Amino acid sequence: MSAPSFTLGDWNRRAAVRTSNHDYRLPEDLLQQLQTRHWFPPAFLPYLAHPAIAAAGREVQHRLSANHLVHFLDYTTLLEHRIVNRAVEVIVHGELPARVMPQMKTAALQLYTDEGYHALFSCLLAEQVASFYGITGRPRMPRRITRLNALIARTGEEHRALAWFVVGFVSETIIARELLEVCRDGLVCSVSDMLRDHLSDEARHSRYFAAVFRYLWQRLDSRRQTFVAGALLEIIGIFFEVDEQWLQQSLREAGIADRDVADIVGGMATAKANRARARSGAIATLQALREAGFFACEQNRTLFTRAGLIDG
Ligand SMILES: [Fe+2]
Ligand SMILES: [Fe+2]
Repeated sequence: MSAPSFTLGDWNRRAAVRTSNHDYRLPEDLLQQLQTRHWFPPAFLPYLAHPAIAAAGREVQHRLSANHLVHFLDYTTLLEHRIVNRAVEVIVHGELPARVMPQMKTAALQLYTDEGYHALFSCLLAEQVASFYGITGRPRMPRRITRLNALIARTGEEHRALAWFVVGFVSETIIARELLEVCRDGLVCSVSDMLRDHLSDEARHSRYFAAVFRYLWQRLDSRRQTFVAGALLEIIGIFFEVDEQWLQQSLREAGIADRDVADIVGGMATAKANRARARSGAIATLQALREAGFFACEQNRTLFTRAGLIDG
């Protein structure tokens, strides 16, 4: 692994909060852009191809994509503040059961700042898109945030800091890939600028969290390693569940019939579909585990094979 693994590299010259000139305002030619561009990549919203939605026309499809974008941005704002930065605090303030070196701590403090900026631009854009479409009742609490908070709440005091770190590690190794895929051409320009600024920071964060995980894993006693293995499996699972309640509401509000809503949501939320999403979406997480020596333990290999995340 390269030398700056416990740092965020050239953060002072590269972090979006230091360098980006974007104001994340919706463009003046928005309506014109919407003739050919999207709020969110249609490849991420496979339900747009459902006959009922295809038949509903482009306005409805734009509205569903805007709903998705706003929910994604509201989720990001909450995630950055309430989840990721909580995990970062655990590193900065010495709550982990291993010594945190000065460069690791400095990088964590920089990362905390990055996430604050990501929360800011996500919120700015969400507000504008919501007001453009008159989307109310925000933010709706995303299922993922509720599930992660519940997991932390039922973790005993002894392992709680470690649980926060594992949540941060999974989240940060997943988000870089998620943004890379979402960040495609053909999006409204301010959405695209925002996603690209976020992505460039998250590539650094993902490497950092993978390195800290590796460092920590090799210093945990077997009781803590067992706890981490179970927590990893559960947390990865949470990241690939479908937010059924939100999706139902989004579709209903767009005027999709109940029968079609049930058809769409039912097809996306099966255990098989969740597993397939986890296997491809958690590639960087699984790679980081491999590099940390996590799968050298047969018990861990068995655990992840049974869950369908790796091949035995
Ligand atoms: Fe972020
Ligand atoms: Fe991050």
